[in-house]
Amino acid sequence: MGDLVVGIDVGTTKVCTLVGEVRDTDIYVLGLGIEPSHGMRKGMVTDVNALTAAISSSVHKAERSSGYEIGRAFVSIAGGHIESINSSGAAGVSGQRGVQVADLERAMDAARAVSLPHGREVLHVIPRNYSLDGQTGLRSPLGMLGFRLEVEAHIITAATASIHNLERCVEAAGVAVDRFILNPLASGDVILTDEERESGVMVVDIGGGTTDLAMFIDGAVWHTAVIAVGGQHITNDTAHGLHLPFELAEAVKLEYGHADPKAVSPLEAFPIQPFGEELPSKVQRADLAHIINARVAEIFELVLKEAKRSGYDGLLKAGIVLTGGSSLLPGIKTVASDVLRMPVRVAQPENLTGMAEALKNPSYSTSVGLLKLGLIMDLEDDRRLSMRQNGSERHGPNIGRIFRRAIDRLLPREENEV
Ligand SMILES: Nc1ncnc2c1ncn2[C@@H]1O[C@H](COP(=O)(O)OP(=O)(O)OP(=O)(O)O)[C@@H](O)[C@H]1O
Ligand SMILES: [Mg+2]
Repeated sequence: MGDLVVGIDVGTTKVCTLVGEVRDTDIYVLGLGIEPSHGMRKGMVTDVNALTAAISSSVHKAERSSGYEIGRAFVSIAGGHIESINSSGAAGVSGQRGVQVADLERAMDAARAVSLPHGREVLHVIPRNYSLDGQTGLRSPLGMLGFRLEVEAHIITAATASIHNLERCVEAAGVAVDRFILNPLASGDVILTDEERESGVMVVDIGGGTTDLAMFIDGAVWHTAVIAVGGQHITNDTAHGLHLPFELAEAVKLEYGHADPKAVSPLEAFPIQPFGEELPSKVQRADLAHIINARVAEIFELVLKEAKRSGYDGLLKAGIVLTGGSSLLPGIKTVASDVLRMPVRVAQPENLTGMAEALKNPSYSTSVGLLKLGLIMDLEDDRRLSMRQNGSERHGPNIGRIFRRAIDRLLPREENEV
């Protein structure tokens, strides 16, 4: 039996709980629970009771399907309250020994010591690159000789109240939060290739309530952002434009929606039943495509603005990788490449084992990524801890502890409480 991991993607439109088992380098999906989400808008909690109920039913489903009781989980987070900044920090190095783990940590501590406004806290601190005595662009300077170590770090912050509201819902559903993970980092972990990350690429996860971005350059996270616009806005525009209730507009979008009016035949039409009308009427599919196109183009213009704001003025050679449920919209690739002028592909989780068929959909990139990235972040923490204790990486990651922690997540609750 391998390590067990649990991820809960609390989205604006669905909650997806996955139970996975680590087998060699793979995660085998043992169980899943997908439920519609309620009580969230634009990636933020608006109704604690409704969201708790949605998380609870997703978790119970995953428990039934995997045969394990879930105690702890990695949980996704997004929303308009997320911000990111870059910061650098320095530390002196003893000339004879070369750079030690403790030096890296002191430099990282200096970088993370940014003054945050009241009510905000740090979610992730990710080293972008190091420099030693002016030699820049180092990935891992461990063991290198020098005197002054500098780190450039990407710091992702969140509103404390938003984190607590989400945590409260997950806990009320009977699950402790192992760690929160920013949506696009989780998605990126699943859908990007190493080559893309090296060449320069941006993940654009267009969900229901938000569009989540993560830019990777030279293999490291360069920039992240959350735009509070997503598929529900496309549905809202459809509802307004065609005078339909939201649910009907959603069904119309899924059935006839297209983001590129040029690709739709002007002859194509479909019947709808608008508000207050006795008889159904006909709508040109191209008219619907114009409504959708305006919003989708706006989303990509905001994405472009973020790419420019990131301070990276080079070209993203590997372009854009779209994911999230809204990336299923026909024609979206064309609109993305028209606005962004970069290569675009649409991606979803692949090469999964276990209950994988249902997850081969761009909606589940974040959910699958939570399992993988959560595990990697745990391993990283343990590696740092063991290196700090042993002064070297000789003993490797403390697998025993990770294993215990993973098991801890899934022990029957009665036993946990003894
Ligand atoms: N075939 C499709 N065509 C167009 N839109 C689609 C299609 N399938 C799903 N969507 C849209 O995808 C959205 C849901 O995507 P996803 O499951 O990634 O969101 P989420 O994770 O719940 O939300 P968020 O991450 O924004 O909080 C909905 O707005 C839905 O209308
Ligand atoms: Mg999502």
